[in-house]
Amino acid sequence: MLDEQAKTTILRTMPHALYICGVKEGDEINGFTASWVMQSSFKPPLVVNCVRNDSRSHAMIKASGVFALTFLELGQKDIAQKFFKPQRLVGSKFEDLEFYLGETGCPILSDSLGYIECNVVGSVEKGDHSVFVGEVIAAGVHREGEILSLASTGWNYGG
Ligand SMILES: Cc1cc2nc3c(=O)[nH]c(=O)nc-3n(C[C@H](O)[C@H](O)[C@H](O)COP(=O)(O)O)c2cc1C
Repeated sequence: MLDEQAKTTILRTMPHALYICGVKEGDEINGFTASWVMQSSFKPPLVVNCVRNDSRSHAMIKASGVFALTFLELGQKDIAQKFFKPQRLVGSKFEDLEFYLGETGCPILSDSLGYIECNVVGSVEKGDHSVFVGEVIAAGVHREGEILSLASTGWNYGG
């Protein structure tokens, strides 16, 4: 029998950073706060990005086959807070924020450490999140700094 309490407690010790995953579908753009992200290959350069099945962004990534990850800096909790709200409730999350569209057409926040852009080259659709495997096709550094960690926010996502 799975010890639910132990599972939650130990999984919540896994370190995560916070990113804004920028997505698009046609002319529409959107983004969400992402934490279940990691590297998965040097050659070719791959990352995995786990995305909630019921989010607007999930449908947009499936339709377009691309996503961008903006790396937030320690202290940018307010931006992460804005982007964890669903688009269907709050509408555009990019109002009041400076951003530009990358090579993939996905939005990237200017006030951040930097970004990567990915083409989706595979996916695993099990459970309530899908794993999108992204090949990194563009990257940029805006400034040096420490990444916004999930631990620094006092929030939990996972367990
Ligand atoms: C701290 C934190 C971390 C999150 N990490 C993820 C994640 O890794 N993947 C994901 O799909 N959603 C994650 N979310 C939830 C999304 O940000 C949320 O579902 C968002 O409303 C989706 O927006 P959309 O419907 O406009 O696409 C996280 C939320 C919080 C508060």
